[in-house]
Amino acid sequence: MMTSDTNEKINAQVIAVFPDKVKIVVEDLEHFKVAEESLKVGSYLKIADNENAVLIAVIENFQISVGEGVQNYIIEAFPLGVLRNGKFERGGDSLAIPPKEVVPATIEDIKKIYEDTVNPVESFTFSHLASNKEVAVPINGNKFFNKHIAIVGSTGSGKSHTLAKIIQKATSEKHEDFHLNNSHVIVFDVHSEYKTAFPNANYIDISNLILPYWMLNSEELEEFFLDTEANDHNQRNIFKESIIFDRKQKFTGDEDDKQKIHLDSPILFDINEVLNFSKFKNTEQIDTGEVYASGDKKGQPKLNQGSLYGKLTNFINRLENKINDKRLDFFLGEKSKNITFEETLQNLLGFTPKKESNITIIDLSGVPFEVLSITVSLISRLIFEYGYIYKKLRCIENPEEKINNDAPILLVYEEAHKYVPNSDLSKYRSSKLSIERIAKEGRKYGVTLLLASQRPSEISETIFAQCNNFIAMRLTNPVDQAYVRKLLPDSLGSLIDKMTSFKQGEALLVGESIILPSIVQIEPCSIAPSSNDIPYWELWKNKWKDIDISKIKTEWHK
Ligand SMILES: Nc1ncnc2c1ncn2[C@@H]1O[C@H](COP(=O)(O)OP(=O)(O)O)[C@@H](O)[C@H]1O
Ligand SMILES: [Mg+2]
Repeated sequence: MMTSDTNEKINAQVIAVFPDKVKIVVEDLEHFKVAEESLKVGSYLKIADNENAVLIAVIENFQISVGEGVQNYIIEAFPLGVLRNGKFERGGDSLAIPPKEVVPATIEDIKKIYEDTVNPVESFTFSHLASNKEVAVPINGNKFFNKHIAIVGSTGSGKSHTLAKIIQKATSEKHEDFHLNNSHVIVFDVHSEYKTAFPNANYIDISNLILPYWMLNSEELEEFFLDTEANDHNQRNIFKESIIFDRKQKFTGDEDDKQKIHLDSPILFDINEVLNFSKFKNTEQIDTGEVYASGDKKGQPKLNQGSLYGKLTNFINRLENKINDKRLDFFLGEKSKNITFEETLQNLLGFTPKKESNITIIDLSGVPFEVLSITVSLISRLIFEYGYIYKKLRCIENPEEKINNDAPILLVYEEAHKYVPNSDLSKYRSSKLSIERIAKEGRKYGVTLLLASQRPSEISETIFAQCNNFIAMRLTNPVDQAYVRKLLPDSLGSLIDKMTSFKQGEALLVGESIILPSIVQIEPCSIAPSSNDIPYWELWKNKWKDIDISKIKTEWHK
């Protein structure tokens, strides 16, 4: 369907073709347009060759060339891909040279490209073209969620809204009429933003979060309880020995299983028993069997100091501080000792009977900074291991099983640079380790990551390199821009330069799930996440407001 008048008189001609650029001369711009659609930077062109292939290119700039009394327009366009026999192929290299004809593409042409390339049952839409809101941009929902996703953009560019929009759509789409669909999303929410956007979510914050310390694996246990820098073998041995001893004491299963208990077994032990044992060892005196023959202690048994006498004082102090720290109650308190393994998983996955929900929001804003990494690590690892075990079970039950996980999970990390930074500091070690593992292997077990960050250059490269779908919003920091540029395919041409000037909610959508890299406007969410914007100017204009400092003190000291 080419517009006809250009056939009669050649008005536009391709004068140069490069892998990443097509140059076109137009004599009369007035005649080089589609009815009622004015051409602008970002409009699409169709360039046909002699072999029934049509290259779709997007206009990057216009120039005017003046010479010998004629004024020509030169259009530079970026080749997006070739339409051949109704099928779209990425890239522009397969066009036969020289191209025959060039015309502007109609909205219908563009719509057709997007629609025809996604199978309707797989189609997932949350945006439209930024240059034309009539053109919805469907993507392949299977490919989108099946591979890790990154949303990057400076603060205020629209990351949180985009995230909320995607999850709102994902949790509301249904094949038939039922209450909950089978989507499973867990959001790590550092700024308490998402409760408003998901009023029916399974909401976990510091007031109802119960996370058992006894589920930590050996590395996490050591990171949390030991002074790892000191590298003290005595500490480590006593710690390990007392945990395994107490686990075996409390274990009620059969003897064979009991013997297999080790430091990584996610089985209850009492941290106070570890403290008691350490105190005992720190003050232990061993009877030599002799008695004092003279002096003050005459007749009393002679005692030797135990091998660890006085050597565990630092460890004991450290442990006592933690056990007595009220802020760590969610982790070390009585509730953490009483909760079962099953309850913990049900809570985190949103599978609590009668309270099932598609989305679990884990509000981390009240979690003390020094335990943030371990909290995120433990939860992430539990979800990963759950996926692993679930797959194993499914394969045992049915060796022919092709789908590893029939209730796949999306794990969402807001401000991902806070848990998986490009840094080797030990305080990030465990969260980095568990999330990197999901980045590398999660897909096999139905666990996908969605990472949002305003500082992409500060995120672990291992993790970013595994992302297949990118939503790049306005990004102003040059270091971050350069970093994102490196991660994205090289064939994006100047599309990528637009990143600096995007409006709120505009994004460059690139990846396996989308047929063309596209600059889109994300649809507004049905209910917005809560904003951190404080209307200073409005508030400052109000009458002086008194603050109850004693109430603040009470809360502070809680
Ligand atoms: N898709 C969108 N459409 C319209 N406005 C948006 C969109 N996304 C974000 N905004 C606006 O931009 C502001 C910042 O968005 P937000 O998602 O909080 O950004 P970020 O998480 O990147 O800091 C929001 O308050 C909202 O008003
Ligand atoms: Mg945000």
